[in-house]
Amino acid sequence: MKPYRLLALSGSLRSSSYNTATTQALQHLAPTNIQVALFEKMANIPLFNPDLEAHSTPETVQQLKAAIAAADGLVISSPEYAHGISGVMKNALDWLVSGEEFIDKPIMLINTSPRATHAQAALKEVLQTMSGIILIPTTDIPLLGSGLDVHGLMHHAELSNTLAQALHQFCTAIEGLNLHKN
Ligand SMILES: Cc1cc2nc3c(=O)[nH]c(=O)nc-3n(C[C@H](O)[C@H](O)[C@H](O)COP(=O)(O)O)c2cc1C
Repeated sequence: MKPYRLLALSGSLRSSSYNTATTQALQHLAPTNIQVALFEKMANIPLFNPDLEAHSTPETVQQLKAAIAAADGLVISSPEYAHGISGVMKNALDWLVSGEEFIDKPIMLINTSPRATHAQAALKEVLQTMSGIILIPTTDIPLLGSGLDVHGLMHHAELSNTLAQALHQFCTAIEGLNLHKN
């Protein structure tokens, strides 16, 4: 059987981002039958402009769309800013609204800050409006104030176990819906 191919998106550009560290940890923790790729060009996605969509979709957006199309599922880990979705994540999502790639795409959500409920709720609303299928609605990895980086997270028994279990559940749910690409 082909491995599950997941694409992870972090909604933070901060160098010590907990969200990015979490996606990196997932990549390292994934068993051999699950491949987690990180989309590392979130900072290069231009501001969304519908005028550009029709005739000259920016290269980075084309790369994002291709990576999503090839993935069995998306892992999204994104912070809350002023009770809202980070502009980085919302901007990337806006480029995907009118394409085919996102429709019926299985999604696993990670929240690295338990108090950040507004952004998570807004993100779920946006993703469902875009016809994504949120299979894992909540994976709480409480990192705020922890000082943990990717290595610290990987060696944190409880948190790394939570991540590994969520990955497993996600892929089991993808399989159950027959959405594992062969
Ligand atoms: C401008 C700004 C606004 C923020 N607003 C909120 C907020 O409304 N609610 C919240 O829970 N955290 C808020 N935070 C905290 C961030 O969500 C938190 O620092 C998070 O770890 C950032 O994600 P990162 O570590 O991946 O960069 C805010 C941080 C900044 C810089």
